[in-house]
Amino acid sequence: MGLTEHIVMRELDIPDISDFAVYRRHGGWEAYRYALTEKTPADIVQMVKDSGLRGRGGAGFPTGVKWGFLPKGVYPRYLLCNCDESEPGTFNNHQIIDKNPHQLIEGVALSAYAIEANVAYIYMRGEFAAAARTLERAIAQAYEAGFLGKNILGTGFDLDIYVHRGAGAYICGEETALMESLEGKIGQPRLKPPFPAVAGLYGKPTIINNVETLANVPRIVEKGVAWYRSHGTEKSPGTKCFSLSGHVNRPGNYELPFGVPLRELIESPEYGGGMKDGRPVKIIIPGGASAPWLTADHLDIPLDYESLAAAGSMLGSGGVIVLNDTVSAPYVAYKMDEFFKHESCGKCTPCREGTHWLVRTLHRMVEEGHATAADIDTLHSIYRQMAGNCFCLLGESAVMPIKSALQLFPHEFEALVKRSSSRNGYQIPLTVRH
Ligand SMILES: Cc1cc2nc3c(=O)[nH]c(=O)nc-3n(C[C@H](O)[C@H](O)[C@H](O)COP(=O)(O)O)c2cc1C
Ligand code: SF4
Repeated sequence: MGLTEHIVMRELDIPDISDFAVYRRHGGWEAYRYALTEKTPADIVQMVKDSGLRGRGGAGFPTGVKWGFLPKGVYPRYLLCNCDESEPGTFNNHQIIDKNPHQLIEGVALSAYAIEANVAYIYMRGEFAAAARTLERAIAQAYEAGFLGKNILGTGFDLDIYVHRGAGAYICGEETALMESLEGKIGQPRLKPPFPAVAGLYGKPTIINNVETLANVPRIVEKGVAWYRSHGTEKSPGTKCFSLSGHVNRPGNYELPFGVPLRELIESPEYGGGMKDGRPVKIIIPGGASAPWLTADHLDIPLDYESLAAAGSMLGSGGVIVLNDTVSAPYVAYKMDEFFKHESCGKCTPCREGTHWLVRTLHRMVEEGHATAADIDTLHSIYRQMAGNCFCLLGESAVMPIKSALQLFPHEFEALVKRSSSRNGYQIPLTVRH
């Protein structure tokens, strides 16, 4: 099974596609013009519902269904485009914006029309300065052409789009923390319910979608539901931009239909190009750092939401990290949990304290070379106390690397203990880095 057609990364190779006139020459902004002049907002919501488009931000929630949760007759409404993209191993949103910003802006504008929002914000991780400038330039061109602003194309529809740069925090990708940050407060998650569709930004009905999700919308409107559903699988229609990294020969973003086997993404010469130096696969983290690990036994698994869930993992953000047999599982868990500890917002005890103690214990075992059998029990105990008890999914995600490492590679933790006791006080750090 190979790629039939690009949906989101279409035209990325066309020179200057980031320019309004070039995008327009290739049919860009036409779906938006058609929607505004010939379709009602409800028509577009129905189309997106029928297309089966699922949110690409991690949970895979059906986009049209989410839009349907907006309470009737309550205004103003807001559309938020989530481009915080801080999940380790995930980098496709950034590339979509860099290469083809108008496809995203057209998707934002179309979706704002569908949900009857007159203001949309694109929230970007603070460090994405160049991408923010690219977007701002493209938005200015769209205003100039009359596709944004007041009384667009004489239809009476008004829309303003703003780019907002955060200060750079993974937690600000969580939808309620993003809204807090946008309102000028500390980026910490809010208790749900109420869900954003009912009470979101400034307490008003708000829809929040990922960059890749919104970039799909112009194509759905332009080509129709049947065409869209002819890609991917029944329950996961369309394509996914997988961000492939780790010990593969050709890391990068590859857009493939849902359901393509993991092996094809890794091994095909067009995509991953196989493992570096021909070494065997040891760990596969299929949905960004938050996803439970898989092993080489799962290489034939189809890449779609259902198949990965059935295998005990998740498709998540589609960041596929592939590591070979030279890595140490405890070291990988240590590095990943160090990330989660750093990004913990500190609001709740299980995550704030749990990530701290996970990292402290792993640091002693892995970096300092002092490991005891009791440390292994401590690690089990910490992650069990965190699981199911954190305020938001960041803390729950921090459980995944250590739980996966302990379950799949228990002998490597035991080897750390043996190594410690056999060295009689003289310790060398375990520094396996590539
Ligand atoms: C800690 C954390 C970080 C997240 N970061 C992002 C992100 O960077 N981008 C994103 O689209 N969704 C992120 N999400 C998911 C969002 O909360 C939300 O579900 C998503 O933006 C909805 O968009 P979708 O329906 O298009 O998937 C994150 C969730 C959590 C718990
Ligand atoms: S789980 Fe972590 S990131 Fe989420 S609220 Fe608690 S401390 Fe903050």
